Amino acid sequence: MATVGAGSNGSFLDETEPTVKILLDERELRQGVERLAGEVNGHYDGESLTIIGVLTGSVVLLADLIRLLEMPLRVGVVQASSYRGGTEAGELSIQADFMPDITSRHVLLVDDIFDTGNTLVEVVKLVKELQPASVATLVLLRKTGRQQVSYEPDFVGFDIPDEFVVGYGLDYADAYRNLNYLAALEPEDLNRTI
Ligand code: IMP
Ligand code: MG
Repeated sequence: MATVGAGSNGSFLDETEPTVKILLDERELRQGVERLAGEVNGHYDGESLTIIGVLTGSVVLLADLIRLLEMPLRVGVVQASSYRGGTEAGELSIQADFMPDITSRHVLLVDDIFDTGNTLVEVVKLVKELQPASVATLVLLRKTGRQQVSYEPDFVGFDIPDEFVVGYGLDYADAYRNLNYLAALEPEDLNRTI
């Protein structure tokens, strides 16, 4: 796990886009995912694993991570949405129709970011009801000082400051998921129409 401080300033996507502060560039993200994959490979030590990505924010991480895993692997998804457009969390809804059968299987839940922690705790609760052999959790990012739950993820890529971040799967109003770096949006950009 690595801790991220204030990033460098001044990357412009183009002049119609907000100013973004890069917190983690492409190379740093790749190193973080490689580190996470090494930890997961070591932990499961060749045992079969079912990875379940929490949509939509985990898709980029999921694609990069699974290609570095060495055990027999199955992949599923579950959709959890709490954000209704901007940065405010709304009511959490979980859509689990596409989840594979996980009874008696080792499950690793993968999400983009651990913020309040409420989403992951709810998804863990749901998965446990399906009687897997074990449930562990992995997040790329953990926001400092925001958690409202006593639960902690088993694998954490980076601890980041309490800022609203986008890129590498994370969105603001469904935009910016495709950036290949992680950026903090400046507060004045959070009210913009995209
Ligand atoms: P939690 O339930 O508060 O932990 O929120 C988890 C979900 O909120 C994540 O899976 C993200 O989809 C979203 N989220 C939390 N913080 C951010 C952020 O800084 N940028 C983008 N999405 C975020
Ligand atoms: Mg999410």
